[in-house]
Amino acid sequence: MNGKSLLLRALRLQPNPRPPVWLMRQAGRYMAEYRAVRENVSFLDLCRNPRLCAQTMADAVGVLDVDAAIIFSDILPILVPLGFDLEYTPGGGPVIANPFRGEDDLARIPAALDPDRIGFVFETVSETRRAIPGEKALIGFAGAPWTLASYAVEGGSSRRFIHTKTLMRRNPRLWSALMDRLTDAAAVSLLGQIEAGADAVQIFDSWAGALGPADYETYVFPFMEKLLARLGGRVPVIYFAAGNPALLPAAARLDADAFGIDWRIPIERAWEIIGANRAVQGNLDPTVLLAGQETIFAETDRILNAVGSRPGFIFNLGHGVLKETPVENAVALVRRVKEFAVSSS
Ligand code: CP3
Repeated sequence: MNGKSLLLRALRLQPNPRPPVWLMRQAGRYMAEYRAVRENVSFLDLCRNPRLCAQTMADAVGVLDVDAAIIFSDILPILVPLGFDLEYTPGGGPVIANPFRGEDDLARIPAALDPDRIGFVFETVSETRRAIPGEKALIGFAGAPWTLASYAVEGGSSRRFIHTKTLMRRNPRLWSALMDRLTDAAAVSLLGQIEAGADAVQIFDSWAGALGPADYETYVFPFMEKLLARLGGRVPVIYFAAGNPALLPAAARLDADAFGIDWRIPIERAWEIIGANRAVQGNLDPTVLLAGQETIFAETDRILNAVGSRPGFIFNLGHGVLKETPVENAVALVRRVKEFAVSSS
C-alpha cells in the first residue's frame, strides 16, 4: 500500500499494514540540500518561491522516503498581508517590528483576507504535488489563531507571552476581534491549499501549552471551533496543540480528525483522553534523534509497541526535527517505522 493511502486510511481510522510516517520540519537546516538552497536566498524569499519550496520538500522526501510531504512554507508569512512587518533574523528567528498592542492596531488588519495576497502558498501546494511522487500524500498547513496571535502581539518568539495574555484578559473584545481576523486568515489559507490539492491539512498550535486549560477554553477554543467549521470537513484535519497535555480533554472536543501529540504524555494515555474515534499522530521526542541508533530504535519501538497496530495511528515526532539532527538518524528512524508489521492476530 502506498504512503498516500496509508496516511489517508489512518486519518479515516481504517486498518493499515503498518503506520504511515512523516516528520514535522522534515526539510530544514539539518539537511545539506536545504542549507545549500539557503545560501542563495533568504528564508522569506524562499517561502514566496513556489518552485523552490516544492523542490526543497521533494528533496527531503527523497532523502527520507517518508509517506507524506508537508508543503515547505511557514506559519508566519500570512501576517504580512495582515499588516505586520515580518523579518527572520539570521539565527534569531522571526521579528515583527509593529506588534499588535491596542485598539489602533486593528484598523490595519483586513477583516477578510484576500486569497490573492497569499497565492504563493497555493502555488506551492500545486508545485509540490508535481514535484513529489504521486504515491506520497501532500499536507497543507497553517498556524492556529492563538499561535499566530502570540507572534503578532509579542512581536516575535516568546517564553512567557506577557503581552498576549495581558491583552486577552484586559480587553476581551479587542482580543476577539484580533482572533477573528487571524481565524479568517488561517481559514482562507487552508481552504485555498485544499483547493490547490492538499490531501489533508495540519493546524499548528505550537504555543497552546503556554495556557492552562481554563484560559484555553475561554480565549482559544471558540476560535478553533470557528476555524474547523469554516473548513467544513473537505479533507482530514490534524490539530497539533503542543506543550501541555492537560489541554487534551478540551482540545478533544474539537471537530478535528486527528490530534498531534508531543512527548510530554505517553501516546496510549493521550489516546485514551482523545477517544478511540479519532486518529493520533506523534510522539517521539525530537532529541532522541541526537542519540545513538540503539536508543532511537528502542524509543521508536516503545511507541510502535504501544499503538503501532491501532487503526488511526500516524508516526511522527512530538515536535519538529532539530537542526542538530544527523540526517542518517532521521533516515534510520523512518526505515524502522516502515519495518514494523502489524500482526493480523
Ligand atoms: O519541513 C517542514 O516542516 C516544512 C516547513 C515548515 C517550516 N516551519 C519551515 C521553517 C513548517 C511546517 C513550519 C511551521 C512553523 N513555523 C511553526 C509550527 C511548528 C513548530 O515548530 O512549532 C512555527 C512556530 C513557525 C515559526 C518559525 N519559523 C520560527 C519560530 C522560526 C525560527 C526558529 C527556527 O526554528 O528556525 C521559523 C523559521 C523556519 N521555518 C525555518 C524553517 C526551515 C528555518 C529558517 C532558516 O533559518 O533557514
